Amino acid sequence: MPPDSIFEDEAEVFRNIEVLEEDYTPDTILCRDDVMNEYINVLKPIYKGRPPQNAFLYGDTGVGKTAVTNHLTNQLERDIVQKNEEEDDPIELTIVKVNCQNLTSTGEETSSYQVAIALVNELRPPKDMIASTGYAPQAVYSMLYDEIDELGGTVLIILDEVDRIGGDDTILYELPRARANEKIENARIGLVGISNDYTFRTNLSPKVKDTLCETELKFPAYNANQLREILHDRAASALHDGTYTEDVIALCAALATRESSGSARKAINLLRRAGEIAENDGQTEITEANVHQAKDDLEYGDMVDSITDQDAHKQYILAAVAHLSKADRTPARVKEVHRTYEHVASAYGADPLSQRGMYNHLTKLAMLGFLTSHDNNEGIKGGQYYEFEFSDEVDSKKVAEAFEQMGLGWQTFQMQKRL
Ligand SMILES: Nc1ncnc2c1ncn2[C@@H]1O[C@H](COP(=O)(O)OP(=O)(O)OP(=O)(O)O)[C@@H](O)[C@H]1O
Ligand SMILES: [Mg+2]
Repeated sequence: MPPDSIFEDEAEVFRNIEVLEEDYTPDTILCRDDVMNEYINVLKPIYKGRPPQNAFLYGDTGVGKTAVTNHLTNQLERDIVQKNEEEDDPIELTIVKVNCQNLTSTGEETSSYQVAIALVNELRPPKDMIASTGYAPQAVYSMLYDEIDELGGTVLIILDEVDRIGGDDTILYELPRARANEKIENARIGLVGISNDYTFRTNLSPKVKDTLCETELKFPAYNANQLREILHDRAASALHDGTYTEDVIALCAALATRESSGSARKAINLLRRAGEIAENDGQTEITEANVHQAKDDLEYGDMVDSITDQDAHKQYILAAVAHLSKADRTPARVKEVHRTYEHVASAYGADPLSQRGMYNHLTKLAMLGFLTSHDNNEGIKGGQYYEFEFSDEVDSKKVAEAFEQMGLGWQTFQMQKRL
């Protein structure tokens, strides 16, 4: 008998929790036949040894863009290895994937330049990698072309979350034209861009649209039935038999359809969180109440994450509102928010913005739904002024947790007396 451990649960719900992790690539992709067929057609020329095509994939978050891409590129590599064993004229294929999210450690925006550097480093051995600053852009592109030419054959470049490069789409213009512009001669580049940001697609320069968007693959959102099918498949290998019911699966699917516009990621996360709650509670079966609790937990985490995604001054403002709110002084006027914000910013070693500079961030936070603003009109004498407080989705605890997560620590302040 193993010793009784405090880490042991009464009952286990999960057979293999990894199947519900974000980075798990499912063996079978369900409910994506149409777009998969189009995608296969884009990749076929590579398998046949013909010049590769370019494609742009778009669709909401959690609809399978990354999963389908990983699935098909793995299969393409496997099939080419097999084909090469039987044929005299082997096909050379290198697939390079870069996720354009978080390429910079400093929180500044990702640019085409940084993607080019990431590609160079992806193709070089660790000892020859380059730093993320200090090179002229043309020097970086020429290093990249050298690496690609050295490889030869087909080089399929996949840029996931490519919308992160923002307004400067140089790299999307450069790569598909590299051979025509005689930057490389031994290799052929195929480029696949992936994005969940519709405005990015419409704002691409016409020349980029011509090449990259040669083929556009739209990934539609899943409906509740499709999400149920996907969940059933995952649950069968992730959970023990008899630990979940059809109702639990249906509820996860319904919530993900209704609240997260058909995201498979959300549906899977709900199921996993519900399973964890059940297990921690010593239950042998996941209940619908567990799923509702899971939904609340995930929403809490999502809000904390979106606070950590804001720029520093917006975070200081949120911290200021948190302090005011704790001292029961919200809704607060801009002047008062600014006074507290100045303390917060200084406490974190930053130069506070002027009231006017801060005001722009403040209204943006209201626009983004973090804060609510009230318009007060006290007639001719008092004039018109705005007051701000947290929206229903935000509270001091979430802001404090975001600061902890960012490793900033949560500073408490002695609030000044109201003047
Ligand atoms: N058709 C499917 N069959 C099985 N699992 C799927 C399917 N579609 C998505 N998933 C799973 O759902 C999760 C989210 O999918 P994925 O990461 O591919 O979304 P995405 O479209 O790339 O989203 P984002 O734009 O946020 O990056 C992953 O765990 C993935 O394995
Ligand atoms: Mg993705």
